[in-house]
This record gives sequence, C-alpha cells and structure tokens, in this order.
Amino acid sequence: MAIRLSRTFVLRKLHQLSGIMPLGFFLLEHFYTNSKALAGAGSFNKAVEDLQAIPYILLVEIGGIFIPLIYHAVYGLVITAEARPNNLAYPYPRNWFYTIQRVTGIILFFFITFHVLNFRFGMIPGLNTVSVAHHPDQSFEIVSREFRMIPIFIVYMVGIVSTVWHFANGIWLFLVDWGIAIGERAQRLAGYACVAFGLVLLAVGINAAVAFIRPGGLIPGIL
Ligand code: HEM
Repeated sequence: MAIRLSRTFVLRKLHQLSGIMPLGFFLLEHFYTNSKALAGAGSFNKAVEDLQAIPYILLVEIGGIFIPLIYHAVYGLVITAEARPNNLAYPYPRNWFYTIQRVTGIILFFFITFHVLNFRFGMIPGLNTVSVAHHPDQSFEIVSREFRMIPIFIVYMVGIVSTVWHFANGIWLFLVDWGIAIGERAQRLAGYACVAFGLVLLAVGINAAVAFIRPGGLIPGIL
C-alpha cells in the first residue's frame, strides 16, 4: 500500500534535516577554520585561501550553504509566525526551549544576513567593503579591525551564543523528532550530551573570535 505524505510533513522534515546537514556541519567547519586564527594571521589567511581554492567553490557555496540556509531561514520564520508560546501558563523548561529556539532563529536571521554581507561579500558601506573570501591575504586584518570595535564584537558574541544554543537544542529536537532518542531516559541522556556539546562548541567559537583581537585567544598557549 502506497503511503501519501502530506506536503507540510515533507517540508517540515526537510527543515529539520537541513538544520543538521548541511547547516550544522558547515557551522563545525566554520568554527574549525576560524580557530586557525589561534595560530596567527598567516595561518588564518592560508585557511581562507585553501577554501577559496576548492574546485567549483561558488557552486558548492550556493548548493551546500546558501540554498539550504535560505530554505531553513524562511521556513523557520513561517514556523515562528505560527508559534503559540505558553511559557507563562506552563513555565516548564521544554516550553522555554521551544520559545528560545524561535527567538534565536529570528536573531540568526538578522545576524547571518549581516555577517554574510559583511565578510563574504564586503557590502556594508561605512564598515567594510572588502570581501574576505576574495582577499585572503587581508582576511585576518579585515576581521581583526572590525572586532576591535566594541559594538561589532558584542554583535558577534550575541550571534555566536545564539547560533550555538540554536544548534545544540536543535540536535536534541532532531534526535527526538526523528525517533533516534525514544523514551524518557534516552531523551534525558541526549539532553545532557547536547548541553556538553553546546558548552564545548561555545568555548571553541568564542575562543576563535577572541583570537582576532588577542594573540592565542582567551588563554594563550594552553593548547
Ligand atoms: C537563519 C535563520 C534561522 C531561522 C529563522 C531558524 C529557525 C528555526 C526554527 C523556528 C526551528 C524550530 C523548528 C521546530 O521546532 O519544528 C529551527 C530548528 C532547527 N534549526 Fe534553525 N533557524 C535558523 C538558522 C539555523 C542555523 C544556521 C542552523 C545550524 C547551525 C540551524 C539548525 C537548526 C536545527 C538543527 C534545528 C532542529 C530541527 C528539528 O526540529 O529537528 N538553524 N530553526
């Protein structure tokens, strides 16, 4: 017997999947590349140059990042517009997580738009008009100059914290929605694992950002 899947079900599953693959995997790769700044400007600039040397890089970016990101972002905003938060009547942790997932989604929408226009395309007049991707030799310098401006650094801290929360809580949602963590105990253990993963990812993300304004990052020479 053929099973008919509703359109909403398929769109919803694609939204969930895109959050993990490719977006989540891209986030890990992105933090890895940024962490090259810990070893100094030359190391980071070389990493950017290597990425740009990937064959068909523009197609990889469009198909592997921009299209999934636009789909996830736009459908995520549709889901958010339909949200019915009930935190005040039922202040359970999972209800708060439901609302924070949507609030961080909205923050990410604005943050990622700004971030991509700023560093990938160099299209923020008055702040930066040089594409980091197209000028690997100046990459570290462009980021470092901006991060020395306190308001910009704060914007990036809010962006990193929101992204890591959204991704770590998103992994838990995915494990539950896709029937990977079934049962109360499995879901509780998966929750602890996501918290631990989120904390490590947060430390890596913040340390990489700090490395652009302080040689060696938060605790130089520790690793
Ligand atoms: C750009 C703006 C973004 C918006 C507006 C947005 C919005 C949302 C919303 C509303 C949900 C909850 C869906 C639900 O409960 O059914 C969600 C889930 C999720 N998002 Fe995003 N998101 C954005 C960016 C990202 C990024 C950059 C990543 C990856 C780092 C990501 C990863 C995830 C994951 C893994 C889930 C969980 C999927 C699931 O429910 O199984 N999102 N997003």
